Amino acid sequence: MRVFPLLFLAACAPDIAAVMADSVPATPSFSADVAPILEQHCVRCHERDGTLDGGVELDTYLGARGARVSSTCTSVGDDVVDVYSADLLPEAGNGSDVPCEPWKTLSMPPGAEVKLSIVEQVMLAQWVATGAQP
Ligand code: HEC
Repeated sequence: MRVFPLLFLAACAPDIAAVMADSVPATPSFSADVAPILEQHCVRCHERDGTLDGGVELDTYLGARGARVSSTCTSVGDDVVDVYSADLLPEAGNGSDVPCEPWKTLSMPPGAEVKLSIVEQVMLAQWVATGAQP
């Protein structure tokens, strides 16, 4: 019965490669894949005609594309940042001029009382990594 604890551990650790293969399109789109996540977790505070907290607009493609790196960095865990670190650096040409790390001190949704699921986290990061397609 030595195999049992190992299986249990494997089931607990988020396997990002498996999530990418099973649940995330190679090139996620804003309208089909990202907007529903932002709608559920973010838009109530980041709406163009609403509170627009932090001046960040997440209910339109252009707003979300502009905030794509900061939004991803505030919303994903360390394991996702590790996998996508190259894409989240300023020199990756992704529209950011500050690396991901400092933003992780501010987590969204605030207090992270409802964290994004691992699939949702990988979806945001993969969207950024593939050029934030509409
Ligand atoms: C309950 C309201 C609320 C929700 C929900 C929320 N935010 Fe925020 N967000 C804020 C507030 C307030 C600020 C401004 C914080 C500050 O400037 O100190 C902010 C700031 C930000 C910033 C700017 C951070 C920076 O330093 O540039 C980003 C990006 C952001 N939010 C993304 C998101 C994303 C992505 C989600 C959903 C996963 C989300 N927010 C959900 C209230 C919210």
